[in-house]
Amino acid sequence: MSAESTVVTAEHFAYLAARTAGDDDFLRDLKAAAREAGLPAIWISPEQASFMAVLLRLARAERVVEVGTLAGYSAIAMARALPPGGRLTTIELEPRHADFAEDWIARSDVADRVEVVRGAGDDVLPGVADGSVDAVFLDADKAGYAGYREHALRILRPGGLFMADNAFAFGQLFDETPTDREVGAVRAFNDHMASAPGFSGVIVPVGDGLWVAVRD
Ligand SMILES: C[S@@+](CC[C@H](N)C(=O)[O-])C[C@H]1O[C@@H](n2cnc3c(N)ncnc32)[C@H](O)[C@@H]1O
Repeated sequence: MSAESTVVTAEHFAYLAARTAGDDDFLRDLKAAAREAGLPAIWISPEQASFMAVLLRLARAERVVEVGTLAGYSAIAMARALPPGGRLTTIELEPRHADFAEDWIARSDVADRVEVVRGAGDDVLPGVADGSVDAVFLDADKAGYAGYREHALRILRPGGLFMADNAFAFGQLFDETPTDREVGAVRAFNDHMASAPGFSGVIVPVGDGLWVAVRD
């Protein structure tokens, strides 16, 4: 181990989570209702949401695109970091997830800032104008990340913020025989991010590993 690094353990994660603003009642209720409705509980952690909100505020983001809505948890958390008049578009393939998210976003304090767009990221992103977006968050099918990255390069303004979730491949990044079929796609995406031009970034050990990068 390098003297410059501390290996982050589950204890560290619990420590930082205990020192980060958690969910308010609305987001707790949203998660409970999503579980009740049978949606998978694979939303980002509260501490990752807090970190992303800090990044969005530092980037002075007003226009954000997310791929992968699920229940709307991260969309609402990010939209709360936008100034009045800010807009977040979140793209969701599964109609059941989009229905749930639309319902809860409509009841949230950021209903005027968030739009759920139904469809696959690959089909929706081509309709987003060049250089029109301040931040992009990828949290959907990992096989699609390479293509979404190309769209992000096109739609982000120079200096725009790029974030992509699950760089640690659901905890299976170093497994020789991973059980999750998306692990290979995550590894390939990580290698591509590390070597391809267009973004300057780093994997941050929060949640399941978050790529944070700036559009060059
Ligand atoms: C990990 S969940 C998103 C969690 C959400 N970002 C949060 O933290 O609250 C991934 C979502 O991506 C959706 N999805 C999968 N493939 C997709 C695609 N090709 N285009 C858009 N959404 C997709 C899934 O249906 C699922 O709802």
